[in-house]
Amino acid sequence: MSSLPMGNTGQEGASIAIAVEGLTKTFHTRRGIPNVVAVEDVSFSVETGSTLGIVGESGSGKSTVARCLLGLTPVDSGAIEVLGRSLVGAPAKQLRSWRSEMQIVFQEPYESLDPRYRVHQAVAEPLLLHTDLRGDVLGRKVLDLLEHVSLQPELARRYPHELSGGQQQRVNIARALATSPKVLVLDEPTASLDVSVQEGVLRLLLALQEEFGLTYVLISHDLTAIRAVCEQVAVMYAGRFVEIGPVDEVLSNPRHPYTEFLIGAELSVDPDVSPLAGIVRGEVATSERPPGCLFAPRCPMRVDQCEEGRPLFESVAPDHVAACLFADRSVDWSD
Ligand SMILES: Nc1ncnc2c1ncn2[C@@H]1O[C@H](COP(=O)(O)OP(=O)(O)OP(=O)(O)O)[C@@H](O)[C@H]1O
Ligand code: SF4
Ligand SMILES: [Mg+2]
Repeated sequence: MSSLPMGNTGQEGASIAIAVEGLTKTFHTRRGIPNVVAVEDVSFSVETGSTLGIVGESGSGKSTVARCLLGLTPVDSGAIEVLGRSLVGAPAKQLRSWRSEMQIVFQEPYESLDPRYRVHQAVAEPLLLHTDLRGDVLGRKVLDLLEHVSLQPELARRYPHELSGGQQQRVNIARALATSPKVLVLDEPTASLDVSVQEGVLRLLLALQEEFGLTYVLISHDLTAIRAVCEQVAVMYAGRFVEIGPVDEVLSNPRHPYTEFLIGAELSVDPDVSPLAGIVRGEVATSERPPGCLFAPRCPMRVDQCEEGRPLFESVAPDHVAACLFADRSVDWSD
């Protein structure tokens, strides 16, 4: 695969753990209902040991990217390399054997656990599937994993419903770590947790990344979490990446109106008084695919030229690109 221009920090010598080029996925729905273009021509790369955040409204295609990355959803076109292996077109058996090195943690901690399994059984399950550990050695490995996610050994005999949401998510993280993965995809891992426990889970994820050299893709609606954990952030709209770059740079110097809208909505306690909230109305449309900029129906800056074709990425700073005709222009929305 050719080297990818986006989503890395440009550090010399850094290896690439994930490389995606031209990823496209359409869901074919029942006759009479328009097909859903969930992901269109998405490209990025993630350096080993770093984190790419993906933000965007509900329905923008974030989870579909995550599932394609792990080979859980087949792609229509594009190339995906994880840890140097090409996933697209790989036989199912091969994908299953690679999966121990790339794991996913989902948003709903309780639904991700089997209610019939005690904690130690839940954590042992992936070890039984992917390793030869058995008996006492297996038991010690389970306790070691629980310690790594800061869960007391006494919790090992509990069932999921006897744990708090934060503890359940720590069990899911222990399960994900069991097979010594190198890549973790985190699909809104703290979204359903109380604000008071979110920070602890994020701190744990950072500590685990440091200890094991993990590469993360973190999907989140929460820009605070993105700021805390990610080196890079990609902003996704209607199946496409519209802006990508170093997290501090993108969030302090956004160049796509949609990124500005997301930041404005976050900064304001009341989304109705955020700078763009009054102008950017409506929802992400995934079935209507006009030829121009997909954000045009909601964009306060649109001009006729925006309807002519998908805007190309413009470089606005080192490693920072935005797909807007006016990416090189700052706009003061307070006027
Ligand atoms: N299996 C499927 N069959 C049909 N359509 C699907 C399927 N999975 C996702 N979609 C559609 O694809 C689009 C993108 O969905 P996706 O779940 O990737 O979005 P998302 O950004 O993760 O949203 P959220 O923030 O709500 O989790 C949506 O319109 C969704 O309805
Ligand atoms: S290309 Fe045009 S419609 Fe699209 S975001 Fe930029 S100004 Fe708005
Ligand atoms: Mg999702």
